[in-house]
Amino acid sequence: PRRRTIRDVRKGDVPGVWLTAYTAPMARRLDPHVDVMLVGDSLGMVVYGMPDTLGVSMDMMIAHGAAVVRASRQALVVVDMPFGSYQQSPAQAFGNAARIMVETGCGAVKLEGGTEMADTVRFLSRRGIPVCGHVGLMPQAVNTAGGFRTQGRDAQQARRVREDARAIADAGAFAIVLEGTVEPVARQITTDVPVPVIGIGASPACDGQVLVVDDMLGASGAFTPRFVRRYADMGGVIDEAVARYAHDVRTRGFPGPEECFGVRGTSLPG
Ligand code: KIV
Ligand code: NA
Repeated sequence: PRRRTIRDVRKGDVPGVWLTAYTAPMARRLDPHVDVMLVGDSLGMVVYGMPDTLGVSMDMMIAHGAAVVRASRQALVVVDMPFGSYQQSPAQAFGNAARIMVETGCGAVKLEGGTEMADTVRFLSRRGIPVCGHVGLMPQAVNTAGGFRTQGRDAQQARRVREDARAIADAGAFAIVLEGTVEPVARQITTDVPVPVIGIGASPACDGQVLVVDDMLGASGAFTPRFVRRYADMGGVIDEAVARYAHDVRTRGFPGPEECFGVRGTSLPG
């Protein structure tokens, strides 16, 4: 099938299905099912065990972005711009976004920020780089926000998140991820802006949903926030398999004759 583009990411009756993906084997499995695979900078925490996303580099995003593009055929692949790669100026953002697009083959980039990033979103999207916005709870701002906090709880915060979303949509973003935001504000923003609003911890009012894939598969082994629904217990599956393997090796139950080469008296052909 033809690979999806930003033209296929629209507001509509059927919500958009987004998931993060960081590796080729996972991308291969997700590709038939999702509209968009997001190579999120959450990979710093999920894959590399970092305490937050600030230490993620351009090279990390490019290596994982390229792996996901190689292993997928139909999903639109969106790659996060890491902290420090776009905040300095529109020109800096363009250089790094172009590098991500060229070196990974992805279809779009995503960056965090509201009104203060609108000029940058405009600069990129007018120069051939499709941009997905990210407002509400912005993990790269953890140090200025004083932690990971749900957004929109008071009227002033609610107004700010709405202004951020509107500014990024006006600047030409093809979609906006809305993270960690209370339902009434998510609903208003989804009504307000003409581009799809993709929620994570932002209620069913949004035009689509995104989750960190390891969280929904129960594979992260870490704290999972309340907004995550667990669709599998991969951690449990892995524990059980590795425990059996360890037992079999220790008791010389693995490998067996049929798993060896050149052992006499087995049913091995030749
Ligand atoms: O990095 C990430 O995975 C994200 C999603 C959670 C939206 O930005
Ligand atoms: Na991210």
